[in-house]
Amino acid sequence: MKEIYKTILDKALPYYKKAREGDIEHIKWLFIIIPKFVDESEVDYDILMPVLLLHDVGYSKVPKGSNPFNLDIRKVHSEEGAKIAEEILNELNYPKNKIKEIKRLILKHDNWAFGDSFKDEPVLRIFNNFDFMWMASKKGFDIARKFMNKKAKEFYIQIQEFQKENEEQGRNWFNKKTGDFYKQLMKERKKEIF
Ligand SMILES: [Fe+2]
Ligand SMILES: [Fe+2]
Repeated sequence: MKEIYKTILDKALPYYKKAREGDIEHIKWLFIIIPKFVDESEVDYDILMPVLLLHDVGYSKVPKGSNPFNLDIRKVHSEEGAKIAEEILNELNYPKNKIKEIKRLILKHDNWAFGDSFKDEPVLRIFNNFDFMWMASKKGFDIARKFMNKKAKEFYIQIQEFQKENEEQGRNWFNKKTGDFYKQLMKERKKEIF
């Protein structure tokens, strides 16, 4: 793993401290998990890694306590996030053409909420698999559940409904082991809840 990714994470952390509850755990989880499931030969890591590390920094600019499931909040955090990402990456002298692409993808990263399948966006397809799955992880489950004000059982069912929507709208698993991992996480949550 390249040192620059850790440097980007360090630069992003002060923003995540001001962002939503649990955002630091969210980003650190993605940073550990994604490389276990997606190989560097399958995607441009120099784009994927900054996108995953910086995609939610924009939550530092939305009013505290905003509901992240609100569509306007989704739009604003993506726009603010793209601006902050550009600042951070420029400061680190990241290649200009890559910054442009990372910004474009951060702007789009939550467009699943507007029905985007990410069919022609391999980086976002991979990223979205895991950004979604965070809700089914041990830590992510309670963090996301509280945003939605749901009880554990209700939220478990809600995740299943979201996944059904993913399937209906064509957001498939990038590879089999990623889909299997989601099923494993859901099995673990089920055991804890029911
Ligand atoms: Fe986001
Ligand atoms: Fe996220």
